[in-house]
Amino acid sequence: MSIRFNEETRQLILETRKTSYQMKIDELGYLKHLYYGPSAGTWNMDYPFRTYDRGFSGNPYDMRDNRAYSLDSMPQEYTSYGVGDFRINTITASYPDGSRCAEYRYISHEIREGKYSIPGLPSAYDNGDTVQTLVVTLGDTASNIRVRLYYGVFEEKDIITRTAEIINGGEETVWLRKAASVCLDLPFGKWDLIHFHGRHCMERQPERVPLFHGIHTISSGRGMSSHQHNPFVILCDRKTTEDSGACYGMMMMYSGNHKTEIELDQFDSVRAVMGLNDERFRWELEPGTSFFTPEVILTYADGLTEMSHNYHRIIQNNVVSSRYRNSHRPVLINNWEATYFDFTEEKLLEIAEKAADLGIELFVLDDGWFRNRNDDNAGLGDWTPDEHKLPEGLGRLIEKIKEKGLAFGLWIEPEMVSEDSDLYRAHPDWALTAPGRAPMMARNQLVLDLSRSDVRDYLFETISGLLENNDIRYIKWDFNRPLSDVYSHSISAERQGEVPHRYYLGLYELYDRLTSAFPDVLFEGCAGGGGRFDAGMLYYSPQIWCSDNTDPISRLKIQYGTSFGYPAGTVSAHVSASPNHQTGRRTTLETRGTVAMTGAFGYELDLTKLTDEECKEIKEQILRYRDVESVIREGKLYRLSGLEEGSRYFCWEYVSEDKNRCLLSIVVTDPLANGPSIHVKLKGLLPDAVYSVGGEFECPGSILMENGYTFVSLTGDYPALQIDICTVS
Ligand code: GLA
Repeated sequence: MSIRFNEETRQLILETRKTSYQMKIDELGYLKHLYYGPSAGTWNMDYPFRTYDRGFSGNPYDMRDNRAYSLDSMPQEYTSYGVGDFRINTITASYPDGSRCAEYRYISHEIREGKYSIPGLPSAYDNGDTVQTLVVTLGDTASNIRVRLYYGVFEEKDIITRTAEIINGGEETVWLRKAASVCLDLPFGKWDLIHFHGRHCMERQPERVPLFHGIHTISSGRGMSSHQHNPFVILCDRKTTEDSGACYGMMMMYSGNHKTEIELDQFDSVRAVMGLNDERFRWELEPGTSFFTPEVILTYADGLTEMSHNYHRIIQNNVVSSRYRNSHRPVLINNWEATYFDFTEEKLLEIAEKAADLGIELFVLDDGWFRNRNDDNAGLGDWTPDEHKLPEGLGRLIEKIKEKGLAFGLWIEPEMVSEDSDLYRAHPDWALTAPGRAPMMARNQLVLDLSRSDVRDYLFETISGLLENNDIRYIKWDFNRPLSDVYSHSISAERQGEVPHRYYLGLYELYDRLTSAFPDVLFEGCAGGGGRFDAGMLYYSPQIWCSDNTDPISRLKIQYGTSFGYPAGTVSAHVSASPNHQTGRRTTLETRGTVAMTGAFGYELDLTKLTDEECKEIKEQILRYRDVESVIREGKLYRLSGLEEGSRYFCWEYVSEDKNRCLLSIVVTDPLANGPSIHVKLKGLLPDAVYSVGGEFECPGSILMENGYTFVSLTGDYPALQIDICTVS
């Protein structure tokens, strides 16, 4: 049993394999957070809390004679507002009388078997695991607002998921202005924050900073989870390393505007609140209705590696819902960096011919295949094949590609519309535009209002039509601009603050309909590369194009940052041309292959321009990838070296679940003349088993882990090496 209630102490206890989470209903009914950390068994973790009379932190009315009792210093599960806890809060609602105060106290709780689901939003699911759900209902003392807190306990995976449901049990409309998913209070300790910032072409760069007194905010208001700030943060002890140290992960399963606030308060306690970004949020909560917040996936682990393993397992098995979750993904060739918009059917077929010869399995026709699309200024919305580029039609091109032995995939950007399109001319009100204002343009395109059901029906019909009439096995679903001028022409003025979230409820509904209707199609997410790389999108698309930057040396950093939260199987990575189109850097095919072999592997260059030598190397690369693919996708990742200060190489290992196989990879970013040897201690092997190391020598796992492995001298332009390490006994 992973959830227990101790009636005597009024403690609610959640337990996973290695962790405990405790809360307590206190004497006034507040839900006090007691503990989250390594297993604490049945011990009452209330013992460290001492209350003191705190100056300028007042006392609830019922405790006016006890000056030591203050909400301002009490760790809580979901905060009140405006009644004496002056730290960041989780919820703000405004009532018809204009007041906004709220004071939530315990009403009841319920323990359910299985994992809760969230109406309209993606959330982690059981998938055969032992999961229990705790639902705690809190009620405001003066209004009829109730809050139900949901806790999903994935016992074996050391994961606790959380969401909140806000219910209007009264007779008048209430406006929600903030509704966070989770509050995590860490009353003691010295913490660092690790977050993942970036930009287009350089996503998810880890930054580790000590918390300072005040509030750190990690957020996106761009209408997408964004290239700039991933909805994932880590709070770790100042001394935490890859291998050990307290480490809390908070990951939001959401693709739109998000916000995480982390406050180090006057008493050196930390509060982290994660949820929807309240800046562009205002929700009409009519009597009798409720509002669900997106899910947050929490984990506690000893060290960053263990934390990543926890996220990798839950995402791979309980977040990604596609049937491709744990199965082979086709090695593909994408024509984008090979031709951009400038292609003919003949050129595509030449590339396909070569691809088939090299052992590639799927051909992806990227942007530019539809009418009026010779650059990125026009054509979005109509989705009619261009009869100049594809004179015999899309269906015939697919047939010809299939005749060569390749499956076919197609790029679409369904959420967008160009001004110069029949769709926009027929339905200008289907785009997000603010009345009386010229909208911001990006790539000369506008965003369709997915909060509207007529827009979603149109998109469902259009995409279904493409998939029903053509043998398309893979869809690359792109999204190439942020949301601005967020105004829906279909709802009232007062409710415009609902549009950013309604957009994502609409997108998830559309994705749900399409993935249910076409379960055999492999969907790849994309948003100008990795602008929507989040657990929400991964629920529908098992892999996401990680970045528009295909330079392997930049990708090392991007994929390194991505790996803290997301497993290799979700990371789409391609070998592209050298010099690289984004950075101009030259690298070897071996380096490009080594870096792209970190997940869903493919190629994105003009194969017809390769030399015979390069073709030979690519054939070998593909065979190699097929051989190690399941170790990469389902094994454990160990980051042996990366972005730490002074590092001049990236070195990582994937170790199979049974630990019999390990793929060790290295790319040297700064080769030195006559430099020290590169020596790494391997991790995650079976100590007693003997391994063959690259066929060169044999050695027990314990020695490889304790004494390490020394690489041969690696020189040249960003030299790379992959070494197969397998048990022999
Ligand atoms: C985005 C994608 C690219 C490519 C282009 C096409 O930038 O990330 O991979 O598909 O759009 O316009």
